[in-house]
Amino acid sequence: MNKKLEQLDQKIAEAQLGGGQKRIAAQHHKGKLTARERIYFLLDAGSFEEIGMLVTHRCDDFGMQEQIVLGDGVVTGYGTIHGRLVYVFAQDFTVFGGSLSETHAEKICKIMDLAVKNGAPVIGLNDSGGARIQEGVNSLGGYADIFYRNVRSSGVVPQISAIMGPCAGGAVYSPAMTDFTIMVEHTSYMFVTGPNVVKTVTNEEVTSEELGGAHTHATKSGVTHLTGVNELDCIEKIKRLLSYIPQNCEEKTPRLDFPLGDELRPQLTDLIPENANQPYDMREVIAGIVDEDSFFEIHEEWAENIVVGFARLAGRSIGIVGNQPISLAGVLDVNSSRKGARFVRFCDCFNIPLLVLEDVPGFLPGTDQEWNGIIVNGAKLLYAFSEATVPRVTVITRKAYGGAYDVMNSKHIGADMNFAWPTAEIAVMGAKGASEIIFKKEIESAADPVAMLAEKEREYQATFANPYRAAQRGFIDEVIDPKDTRRKLIKAFAMLENKVVDRPRRKHGNIPL
Ligand code: HXC
Repeated sequence: MNKKLEQLDQKIAEAQLGGGQKRIAAQHHKGKLTARERIYFLLDAGSFEEIGMLVTHRCDDFGMQEQIVLGDGVVTGYGTIHGRLVYVFAQDFTVFGGSLSETHAEKICKIMDLAVKNGAPVIGLNDSGGARIQEGVNSLGGYADIFYRNVRSSGVVPQISAIMGPCAGGAVYSPAMTDFTIMVEHTSYMFVTGPNVVKTVTNEEVTSEELGGAHTHATKSGVTHLTGVNELDCIEKIKRLLSYIPQNCEEKTPRLDFPLGDELRPQLTDLIPENANQPYDMREVIAGIVDEDSFFEIHEEWAENIVVGFARLAGRSIGIVGNQPISLAGVLDVNSSRKGARFVRFCDCFNIPLLVLEDVPGFLPGTDQEWNGIIVNGAKLLYAFSEATVPRVTVITRKAYGGAYDVMNSKHIGADMNFAWPTAEIAVMGAKGASEIIFKKEIESAADPVAMLAEKEREYQATFANPYRAAQRGFIDEVIDPKDTRRKLIKAFAMLENKVVDRPRRKHGNIPL
């Protein structure tokens, strides 16, 4: 018995060493932690239980039978974060470059299956050279087994991918199908084909960092939702993100104790500028509504004309979508529609109530937008809101013009409570454009066309540039004093807490992808 225990101890020591001290030192030299160190920092102290530590690969080609490393390049298991169960895998770059073999994939699939059965998030810490080249189709099949499970798990349990090293080829598609991707600045990159292939095919010269580094994906492609300045920052952001999200699609959102006070926020009173063309930062509105320092922004640097993120309202987590007047006047375009739609669908999957803060002059005109499909992309946001069954509340702070009024969680597409500030303007379009069209003849035949246009603009503004027409029709439930917004929203979301919506029987809808 003792001999057997000694053997086991030795095997565990070998596995924990991973790819050996030299390779671990090389990993540290690149500014990267090892797989086990990452798990250590991610999970509550002492909570990690490893699964499959003694697994080895089954490859006999290219002398691989001589190179057996216990665990086969990925550490898998479960533990807790802030006391809540999570499943985790961490690829070990010190073992065959973290490349994915058949058995490596089996280990990941095993914890993904457990996560779905037990209703808890999966966190993948990716650091891999992609499919293990020596294994051929076995490794490709392994990837496909993971992709299939990503899709089966989607909307059942949250899936988070951290990119902590290279992520190339097909390896990028598993993170792309998870709910959130977070990249470490300067030490991680993601691309389908690397700089060498790019040079061969297109003759472009580009570095890995330019092609697929964290900054690129945070600002240009929107592939990553978050970035961390280093691995520890990335790990802290994963923990914070999870704190807003339920464990699975059956649970309600997490809730912190919150003693209610008077909840008035006078700082919101004078936030909207006198001049309707002057911008203001929607983040200030958000800060004036949610619990102190609770806003956690997603996709902060991409499609900045819409702001999305999680926050807490009286201790309860909510998702926020807001037009952003300081970027392109808060207009909706291709990227902001995609960004908003993806976020709305995530919140709806996991029962996170939605708050919409609206100040939108419409959709962005131009050939660039039309040729890039603003029609189909704008429709994504419209579709996402329309299908969402979570509690949905809108506050119109200023402009709600044209089709964008309909899209931004209007009552007509199923919003539950719609408030407006007295500064709201709900109309088909702005006063100048509208007057030029409907009063064209009068303006042209006037002795002073400029004065006539100005007069017609005033007339139009008096009629439509306010929330009262919409309130008369019941499209707005209440016109509220801005300083009262937080109090009204706390009450509205509490009232909607047990909302149930019947949906038509169908296999699934067909969102315009
Ligand atoms: C087997 C691999 C490997 C791989 C790296 N290694 N990638 N072994 N299969 N895919 C091994 C290397 O041989 C080396 O072993 C060790 O890992 C470290 O690799 P280095 O190249 O020394 O490290 P570095 O210079 O940091 O470069 C890392 C890298 C590079 C950029 C990831 O290794 C690389 O380009 N690898 C191949 C990437 C790739 O094309 N993968 C296939 C993608 S296609 P030794 O023993 O020398 O230390 C794909 C298809 C999936 O994934 C399809 C799904 C749809």
